[in-house]
Amino acid sequence: MKSVKGEKERLIDDYGREIRSLRFSITNRCNLNCIYCHNEGEERRERREEISAELVIGIARVASAYFDIRKIKFSGGEPLMRDDLVDIIQGMRDFEDDISATTNGILLSKYAAELADAGLDRVNVSLDSLKEERYDFITSSCNNLPKVIEGIYSAIDAGLTPLKLNMVLLKGINEEEIEGMMDFVRECNKRGRGEVAILQLIELIPCFNHKPLQGLQVSPSGYEADFCGVEAELKSKASAIKTRRLQHRRKYFVDGVEVEVVHPIDNTEFCANCSRLRITFEGKIKPCLLRNDHLVPIKSVDEMHIINKLKLAMKYREPFYKEGKNSKLRTK
Ligand code: 5AD
Repeated sequence: MKSVKGEKERLIDDYGREIRSLRFSITNRCNLNCIYCHNEGEERRERREEISAELVIGIARVASAYFDIRKIKFSGGEPLMRDDLVDIIQGMRDFEDDISATTNGILLSKYAAELADAGLDRVNVSLDSLKEERYDFITSSCNNLPKVIEGIYSAIDAGLTPLKLNMVLLKGINEEEIEGMMDFVRECNKRGRGEVAILQLIELIPCFNHKPLQGLQVSPSGYEADFCGVEAELKSKASAIKTRRLQHRRKYFVDGVEVEVVHPIDNTEFCANCSRLRITFEGKIKPCLLRNDHLVPIKSVDEMHIINKLKLAMKYREPFYKEGKNSKLRTK
């Protein structure tokens, strides 16, 4: 199934943005209830039928075989709550180059080795605080932090690296923990005997009263941190700065720690460089995280059907933030 790059058709939208990765939300179930969670732009946790393993693998196979897309990310809800995740990964490992998952880490110590054996390459672990009380507050849960730390260590031991620690910056809640989080990255690197961990600072996407994002409504939640200030400080301390192709994200190298920043709000550069296509837990293609009004359902594993739906979804792709559009929604 693998082929030389360049021989295949490409999925490129009207804005010249080529799709290079698929992000599957495979469930909307979650064992945490984070105060800021945007639920991948989906309705909140009603129990609904989830995309089948067969369809996830079928879509990934078509994307790889026809469009040369061989990078997959699993998210949720919490993707490790799907008991067929190992089977899904095993089913696509032969034709994918990079398979990763974004997890809250609670179940990682149990599954890290098995997932790595199945073909998972790496994980992102949500970790917004290293202080137990604060972690409990942010996640609306009790006593999970030690499990998450243990999960992170298990993932490092299983080679699920580079492991990214996802920290959503929340004003007045965890802003002052960046240094502490960088120390934790150093600890992880020591354990992995190399630069195995990366801190990923994420700008809050505000959803009013934690309601799902609808259409163009992005509203302030009151938790938005001064992300520009944080970036300026990183810049002043960094020994090197790089820019990733994906969404033009910046990476700062500070005292041996790699810090990547994800700054989507009102960022035309971010949208202009978006190269991922999302699939919802119900099997609908979602051309933009911030919109729910142009979903494209995939209803069968038939190859032509999947190809046609992927092509149709491309027609709906449009940068959410582009010059002169949505810029008034800036919340600061
Ligand atoms: N803003 C920014 N990132 C979010 N995530 C979830 N909700 C939000 C939000 N409102 C991201 C975090 C988390 C992952 C599961 O989803 O990075 O780690």
